This record gives sequence, structure tokens and C-alpha cells, in this order.
Amino acid sequence: MMALALISLCLPLMTACSAGPPRIAFAELDFALADAGSGEKLFNQSNDEAPSCAACHSITGESSGIGNSLAGIASVAGQRVGGQSAEEYLYWSILRPGRHLVAGYSNIMYARYEDGLEAADVADLIAYLMTLS
Ligand code: HEC
Repeated sequence: MMALALISLCLPLMTACSAGPPRIAFAELDFALADAGSGEKLFNQSNDEAPSCAACHSITGESSGIGNSLAGIASVAGQRVGGQSAEEYLYWSILRPGRHLVAGYSNIMYARYEDGLEAADVADLIAYLMTLS
């Protein structure tokens, strides 16, 4: 009942609900334990709810046309938003993609990854993205 009430509250307010603070805090991410190999698997994996990152992002210089290529993202992530480290920028990019838009792209990235990811998954994804230098 509670869940139903929440869903019916959230559906009409979808943007309002997903604009709150992420369920997973940046401080919860343990990069010392993060595994880029698992992150790469997650990047390429979709499930019933969420499309794979690879569906929209290539990791070569070629853009797939939907999202920008993430080739070299490790080198530019720390310069995207003033005051955000590369890891922080990637964290926000995954959990709140609408907060900062890459020039020339609109706010169409799938915005509900936090529903299916744990803190360790987010850290693994970021560790993988940090190998794309
Ligand atoms: C439905 C298509 C789509 C999917 C799926 C998607 N993205 Fe994106 N993503 C985009 C678009 C479009 C942008 C550019 C607009 C923006 O900044 O939100 C973007 C931006 C980004 C950026 C910022 C890139 C930069 O150059 O600053 C990162 C990082 C990113 N996505 C990572 C991911 C990861 C990791 C996943 C999977 C967990 C993912 N994306 C899934 C479409 C997508």
C-alpha cells in the first residue's frame, strides 16, 4: 500500500522526484574497492528497466548519435564543472544526468540508474570510465 501510494505520488511528479538528492551519496563510494572490470560489464549490460550505457555511448571517437563518445572522458571529466573532481562529475553524470549537459546534446540520458545500482556498482562504473583516458 505504502509503495503504491509513493508510486502514484511520484508518477505525476516524476521530474520533481528524480531531482532530489541521489539515494547513493558520493561519500558512500569506496574507490579503493572499485573494480573497473565489473564497471565495464555494467557499462555493456542492460536489464528490463534500464538500457545499457553502450546503447547510447561509444568508447571510440565515433559518436553513436544518441550520446557523446566517452573516449577520453577520464581526461576531461575533472574540467567539466568547476569545483567537481573527475569522479564527482562522473557520479553526477550517472545519477543526475540532467544537471550538466554536454554541449550540443539534450537531456535524454536515461535518468533512473539509481533504481537498479548499488553504491559499489556506481564506483565500479566510475572506475571503468576513469580508464578511458
Ligand atoms: C538513452 C541514451 C543514454 C544512455 C542509456 C546513457 N547515456 Fe550517458 N549521456 C547521454 C547523453 C545524450 C548525454 C549528453 C547529455 C548530458 O550531458 O546529459 C550523456 C552524458 C553522459 C556523460 C557525460 C559525458 C561528458 O562528456 O561529459 C557521462 C559520463 C555518461 N553519460 C555516462 C553514462 C553511463 C555510465 C551510462 C550507463 C550507466 C549512460 N551514460 C547511459 C545518453 C545516454
